[in-house]
Amino acid sequence: MAQALALLGGTPIRTRPFTAWPVFGAAEEERLLRTLRSGNWGRLDGVEVAEFEKRFAVLHGCQHGIAVVNGTVSLRIALLAAGISGEDEVIVPPYTFVSTATAVLEANAIPVFADIDLGTFNLDPAAVEAAITPRTKAVIPVHFAGQPADMDAMMAIAADHDLLVLEDAAHAHGATYRERPVGSLGHIASFSFQSSKNLTAGEGGIITTNDDRLAEACRSIHNCGRVPDGVWYEHHFVSGNYRLGEFQGAVLNCQLDRLDAQTTIRDRNGRRLADRLAVLPGIYPQARSAECTRHSYHLFMIRIDPAAFGATRAAVIAALQAEGIPCSAGYGYSLPDQPLFRNKAFGPFLHRAAEALDYGKCQCPNSDLICREQGLWLEQNLLLGSEQDIDDIAGAFEKVHTHRAALGGFDVQTT
Ligand SMILES: Cc1ncc(COP(=O)(O)O)c(C=O)c1O
Repeated sequence: MAQALALLGGTPIRTRPFTAWPVFGAAEEERLLRTLRSGNWGRLDGVEVAEFEKRFAVLHGCQHGIAVVNGTVSLRIALLAAGISGEDEVIVPPYTFVSTATAVLEANAIPVFADIDLGTFNLDPAAVEAAITPRTKAVIPVHFAGQPADMDAMMAIAADHDLLVLEDAAHAHGATYRERPVGSLGHIASFSFQSSKNLTAGEGGIITTNDDRLAEACRSIHNCGRVPDGVWYEHHFVSGNYRLGEFQGAVLNCQLDRLDAQTTIRDRNGRRLADRLAVLPGIYPQARSAECTRHSYHLFMIRIDPAAFGATRAAVIAALQAEGIPCSAGYGYSLPDQPLFRNKAFGPFLHRAAEALDYGKCQCPNSDLICREQGLWLEQNLLLGSEQDIDDIAGAFEKVHTHRAALGGFDVQTT
């Protein structure tokens, strides 16, 4: 019998830390100092955000990039730019960060949940089709964990029903679908640069598009309702200031220099880990679609079937953590179950429409199963190291499986 589980007093597989995140160095220091000394700290005076917008857009196959303060307002601005409002319906997945749905509410539109696929964890096209009504105006596929959603299906459905497709690419910087970059696959896209993301400045976001009209509308919305040939104190509609600052632009330009090499490493390590784990009973790494030509692996996500594996998710997480492998259960709520939706706590939005809504009636069994019992996440920095790191992670899963019978008493909640 192999070494006992660390959870039960054995020696952990791993005591060294994994690659720390964020990765930064002299380049960031120099560029930040240069920006500081320039005295041009705002987007409208400096060069950093403007340069970043261009580079990021080109890398993602787009003519336009509009940098904003985070990946929540970028979603909302994209919806507003497309004219979504007035209690239109927007289809979103239930298995995503809350912003994908709250951005819809903050555009005064109604989020309608369509379930995800149990293999890829991305929106299920059949569920999207079934959720369409005469009021549906848009769909927001999330490229979950960094794997592009089924965009051929999304675009075909959108063409049939005249819908806007807004990609939520918060997890997917640098990912490709049939060799085409995410961010250019739908009509408009949104990315986040929040601390955990594969490209980060602590906070930040960007909208990408090839549609000149949408780009111009986003630029106006992110800049207090100004218009291209207007004067400074001239405002054409109610809006706010969502411009990104130059210090974040400086950091993002340096982080962008690192992105390609980091994405290559994550994709290689992610594939290696998926191959190792897929042979274990009850362990289902995110299914990789044939169209995914580059996975950005913001998360390495697994579905664990407790009956087939022989231990509950909570016990497995506790055992893996004790072996030195940081991991979590991820989202504990499918979005329709969130108090926000159950109580329709929509603040100033959807006054008339809210009365008729009942999110308790949503049918999203795949999302429910993953949130309540089966989802397991490893974060992207675990994939940034050597093959030995991947062997340690796989070795820990194998060890936990070998000793699964000893885990009966460890059904504690660990998230
Ligand atoms: C899928 C998804 N969409 C949107 C967001 C919102 O981004 P931000 O945190 O920059 O507002 C996140 C952030 O966690 C996310 O994971």
